[in-house]
Amino acid sequence: MTRETWATRIGFILAAVGSAVGLGNIWRFPWVTAENGGSAFLLVYLFVVLAVGVPGLVGEFVIGRRAKRNPVGALRDLSGSTGWAVVGGFSVLTALVLLSFYSVVGGWILRYFVESALALAGGPLPYAAEPGAYFGSASAGTDALAYHLVFLGLTAVVVLGGVRKGIELGTTVMMPAVFVLLVVLAAWAATQPDAAAGYAFYLSFDLSTLEENFFSVLGPAAGQALFTLSLGAGTMVTYASYLGEDRSLPFDAGTIAVLNTSVGVLAGLVVFPLLFSLGVEPGSPGPGALFVSIAGAFARLPGGTLIASAFFGVVALAALSSSISMLEIPVSFLVDEFGFDRRRSVAVALVVFAVTGAANALDPAVFQLFAVTLVDRLLTAGLAAFLLFVGWVLGRDALEEFRLGAGDLASSLGPAWLYAVGVVLPLFLVFTLLTSFGLEARVGFWPTVALAVGVAGAAFLGLRSSNSVV
Ligand code: PHE
Repeated sequence: MTRETWATRIGFILAAVGSAVGLGNIWRFPWVTAENGGSAFLLVYLFVVLAVGVPGLVGEFVIGRRAKRNPVGALRDLSGSTGWAVVGGFSVLTALVLLSFYSVVGGWILRYFVESALALAGGPLPYAAEPGAYFGSASAGTDALAYHLVFLGLTAVVVLGGVRKGIELGTTVMMPAVFVLLVVLAAWAATQPDAAAGYAFYLSFDLSTLEENFFSVLGPAAGQALFTLSLGAGTMVTYASYLGEDRSLPFDAGTIAVLNTSVGVLAGLVVFPLLFSLGVEPGSPGPGALFVSIAGAFARLPGGTLIASAFFGVVALAALSSSISMLEIPVSFLVDEFGFDRRRSVAVALVVFAVTGAANALDPAVFQLFAVTLVDRLLTAGLAAFLLFVGWVLGRDALEEFRLGAGDLASSLGPAWLYAVGVVLPLFLVFTLLTSFGLEARVGFWPTVALAVGVAGAAFLGLRSSNSVV
């Protein structure tokens, strides 16, 4: 059976942007930012998107396009070692953690969308009277389970269609709709009284808080940057494995990062002016922030029901275009490695996610474990592993792949890129991982650096070969 490919250039970009733009930009971003001191967090986050995200995206693309296989098969085939297949297996595990909680949040969004749309026919918004209590009862329990299953089902329908007729077609329709609706909503939000106070809060950078908090925000900021770019889970490896022609990977990575960040900023331009014009305190922290503050706000606005429907509709589309990229990881694994057809692969994955998602929907402690404790660390470790692979196993072959389809300017950056992804970024990611376990706070900066250098250095030595980056 010939492997599927994207039909068009733009199709790949839109699918990857669809994966990147999601709940990370709209649901997770405001509360993680608020919990980590606002603007200080924002700066570190933007820095990581640029300095780690873009070269990291290229790294995952290089692996995927060269191997034309799922992350497990890709690492095995390119290295000839089953040890690396096991490392690739972490992608499937990470996808499991991701989609299990993501689908539950997608279900919450779906519920708010359905209820807003029903209220358009007349009648009050059911979540508006007591937004906090309402979210409390909607977020965990049998209703949450039911909506999780519906969201997962929608995800499966798209993935079932395959690479071209499912994912590519779906995201080509969804992404422009998300952009247009967000622009309309942001323009409307700008007309609200006190919108200016919202902009001021959102766009003010405070360097002194950054200095004070740098290390405590590093872990969460890096985690958020990887999460929003869909890095570290093998999604981008998988999507790039469907590239038929040789296009410029650095150009595509830059485009995806810019579009994803624009949507993030745009979402902020909708959310913050709205909150301020209604005098709602932004950032009641935690996963309920968006639902409680924004949902409460809609009820008090003229035309709020229509705005609420549009808003939750946009978020639902953005979430769906991301969840399909999570489901595609195990599906491509089952198709490539076990020779299952797509239907059977989707069916198997669906049963697993239905169960693991159910645990997230029913038990807030499981949700906390998956969505907060595990996910960022898995993504950070996953990306470090992919980049070590690029620098030390693919080595100079990665450079060749990087240059295929890239223009002269990008090609000349190749050696610097390889050095960055092989040496600097793994060091940074290991350091970040250590700080996320509170090491820097406990033992101080230099001992943490020393340990990071030790761990990364041991990996470098272990992986050293004639082809490697240094
Ligand atoms: N980037 C997606 C979002 O922001 C989440 C995601 C993470 C998707 C990792 C795939 C892989 O919602």
